[in-house]
Amino acid sequence: MTDMTVSLAGVRLKNPLVAASGCFGFGREYDEYFDISILGGLSVKGLTLRPRDGNPPPRAAETPGGMLNSVGLQNPGVEAFLRDELPFLKTKDVAVFANISGGSPEDYGEMAGLLGDAVDLLEVNISCPNLNDRGENFGSEPRAAAAVTETVKKRARVPVCVKLSPNVSDIAEIALACKNAGADALSLINTLYGMRIDLETRRPVLRTNAGGLSGPAVFPVAVRCVWQAAAKTGLPVVGMGGVSSGADAAEMMVAGASAVGIGTALFGDPLAPVRILRELRDWCGKAGVDKVSELTGSVKAY
Ligand code: FUM
Repeated sequence: MTDMTVSLAGVRLKNPLVAASGCFGFGREYDEYFDISILGGLSVKGLTLRPRDGNPPPRAAETPGGMLNSVGLQNPGVEAFLRDELPFLKTKDVAVFANISGGSPEDYGEMAGLLGDAVDLLEVNISCPNLNDRGENFGSEPRAAAAVTETVKKRARVPVCVKLSPNVSDIAEIALACKNAGADALSLINTLYGMRIDLETRRPVLRTNAGGLSGPAVFPVAVRCVWQAAAKTGLPVVGMGGVSSGADAAEMMVAGASAVGIGTALFGDPLAPVRILRELRDWCGKAGVDKVSELTGSVKAY
């Protein structure tokens, strides 16, 4: 039997699978399909200081091999999360990541202070493409990424994992800026900024015109980004973006990930984590892998 435990910046996960932020709400609905304690970790829907209604509809659309979304960080706010959602998650044997977003580095710092050590890890989201009409965010530029990371680190009482955007010319440079500002880990990739148009109406399929592309179509981009960021920084990485099978999860780890996010696959199959975990275990068994953590960064790149 393969040892499936992994460590992410000192946070022990019973297996590498993490429900990705924005695809799992706060876990309650999925817990009706399977016991969410089977997961290694769970990243909650992106939180902000104050509640947000998000963007106007339509804000999700299927595309070949994936989907576009422009949810716009709809969430109840960090205080409501602590009061109404976290107590349920605490009844589960799963590491809880609080995904946080803000309009300024100070917003992020304040949220880190409010969350304290109530969660296992802060996932600092500097990469949501749905907050302005150019897909920009703090993760678009190394100095801005570093400023947020540094501010959060000053207030954080748990490890800080910065979530990066693929919509940049050099993701390794942004990853390094976060590391130098004190990041304990990285998660990547957030969605690719994309657009589709309905030819009948000539209207974009999303009300915000463009939005974030996720799903199997982005998997090769995610593998490349994970490989570059992990190699450049040596930081532990949560690799995500189109993971749909146990083999995908193994590939993400071989590229450099210590843990693997499952996101869009959940929308087609709410039981995807159960299947992917079984497939990953089987794959490791067949490949003679004693510890799943041995896969991390084992790529023999040319
Ligand atoms: O629009 C959204 O809520 C997406 C968030 C994200 O990609 O981080």
